[in-house]
Amino acid sequence: MSRMETAQQEAALLPRMPQRKLRDIPGNYGWPLLGDTVPFLKDYHSLVTTQARQYGLVFKGSVLFQRGVTLLGPEANEFVLKDPEHAFSSRAAWNPILEKLFTDGLMLRDFADHKFHRRIMQQAFKKPALASYLGRMSHHIDSQLPSWNTGEPLHFLDHIKALLLDVGAQIFFGLEMGPEADKVNQSFIDTTEASLAVVRLPIPGLLWHRGMKGRRYLEDFVTGLIPEKRNSDTPDFFSELCKAADEEGGLTDRDVMNHMIFLLFAAHDTTTSTLCSIIYMLAKHPEWQDMLAEEMQGLGKATLDYDDLGKLEKTGWVFRETLRMRPPLTTFPRRTVRDVEYQGYTLPKNTLVNISPLFTHYMEDYWSHPHTFDPARFSDDRAEHKQHFYQWLPFGGGHHKCLGLNFAELQSKIFLFHFLQRYRVSVKPGYEVPTQQVPLIMPKDGLPVTIEKR
Ligand code: HEM
Repeated sequence: MSRMETAQQEAALLPRMPQRKLRDIPGNYGWPLLGDTVPFLKDYHSLVTTQARQYGLVFKGSVLFQRGVTLLGPEANEFVLKDPEHAFSSRAAWNPILEKLFTDGLMLRDFADHKFHRRIMQQAFKKPALASYLGRMSHHIDSQLPSWNTGEPLHFLDHIKALLLDVGAQIFFGLEMGPEADKVNQSFIDTTEASLAVVRLPIPGLLWHRGMKGRRYLEDFVTGLIPEKRNSDTPDFFSELCKAADEEGGLTDRDVMNHMIFLLFAAHDTTTSTLCSIIYMLAKHPEWQDMLAEEMQGLGKATLDYDDLGKLEKTGWVFRETLRMRPPLTTFPRRTVRDVEYQGYTLPKNTLVNISPLFTHYMEDYWSHPHTFDPARFSDDRAEHKQHFYQWLPFGGGHHKCLGLNFAELQSKIFLFHFLQRYRVSVKPGYEVPTQQVPLIMPKDGLPVTIEKR
C-alpha cells in the first residue's frame, strides 16, 4: 500500500482515536471544559496576540471543547499547508463541523482523492469559464443597484447578501430570478446557518432540522438538473462542472451534486464578508473611493471585459489590503495523521492544529504599520507582500488553496466598478464596525452606511 493510501486510511480513522498529551508544548487550556472559548468568540485577535506574546509562535490551548496547538507565522503556514509528507488532514479537521451539511466537498477530501477531484473542478475556474460568467454577473449587478435607497442609512450586509445570492443563482445554476431561485437561496441559507448549530438533533424548529431539510432540497434540486446540465452549454459553474466531469470521465452524479452544494457554501459568506469589509474600509477612507472611481472612469467603458480587470490596479490593492486586515477566515484547522516534528516540538498523531491568517497579517516583521489601511503597500514599488510566500494568505495555500480566488476578485471588482461610479458611501463620524471574527469576519450590526449619488 502506498504512503498516500495509508495516510488516507489513517485520516478516516482519526476522530475515533484518543489524542496523546501535548505535554512539552507551552500554553494552557484555560477554564475546565470551556477552555478559552469565551475570549475566542469575543475577540479572537486579542486572544491569539496575547497567547503569542506569552508563549511564542507555537502553543497549545482549548476552544470550542477541543484541545489543539496553534502554529503562527509564515513558516508555520508553509509547513502545514504545503505539507509535502501528507501529515495534515483537512478532512479530519473540517468533517466534524461540515460533514452532514456539505458532504464530501473538496475541503473535506484528502491527499490523492482530493487531488483527483480538484483537478477536475479546476476546469470550471479557468479563464474562459470565468470570462463567460462575467457578462451576466455585470448586467445583473448594474440593474439592481439603482433600487438601493440613497440619503438614508441602509444595512449594507443585507443588501450585498441578497444581491450575491441572486447573482449566485444565475452564475452557479444558470437560474433566472423567480420563486425557484428564492427557494434554492432559502434552502442554502438554512444549510449554511446549520453549520453553526450547537444542538445537532433533528428537532423541528431548530437550526439543525432546518439545515438538513435545506440540504435535502438542494440535493433533489441539483440532482434533478444534472441530465439537462450535462447536455447544455450555458455559462454557469454547473454546466462547466458537468462538462469537466464528463471529459475526465471520473465524476458520478452524486459527486457533481456534492461539489455544487459545497461550492455555494465556499463562495457565499466569504465574498459577502469581503465586500462588507471593502465598503467599510472605503467609507472610512473616502480618498480611496475617489481614486478608484477615477481609475474606473479612466477605462471609458460602461461594462468590464475580462481583460479590463487587470487594468484596475488600485482596485486590486484595495482588495488585497482589505483581505490582509480582515481575512474572512481568520483561523482554520488541520489534524495530524502521524507524529510531526516542528521547531523541536512533537505534535502527536491526531492533534488539532490551527493556523492564523489574521495573526500573520499583522506581524510587524512583514508589514509596516500593520494597523494602518495602506493599499499601496501592494504596489510593485513597495511589494511588502513579497517577503514570504505564506505571509498573505486570505485564500489559504498549498494543496487546498482556494479554488475561487480569481472568481472572488472578479466579482468584487465588478461590484465595485458599478457601485463606486454610481455612489459615494459613508459611515457616521467615529464609527467603528463591531466585528464577529470567527468562524468568519462579519459586521455584527449589519454595517449601517449611507449612499449618495455621485
Ligand atoms: C474572498 C473570498 C474568499 C475567501 C477569503 C476564501 C478563502 C478560502 C480559504 C482560506 C480556503 C482554504 C481553507 C483550508 O485550507 O482549510 C478556501 C478553499 C476553497 N474555496 Fe475559497 N474563499 C473565497 C471565495 C471562494 C469562492 C468565490 C469560491 C467558489 C466560487 C471558493 C471556493 C473554494 C473551494 C472549492 C475551496 C476548497 C479548495 C480545496 O480544498 O482544494 N472560494 N477558500
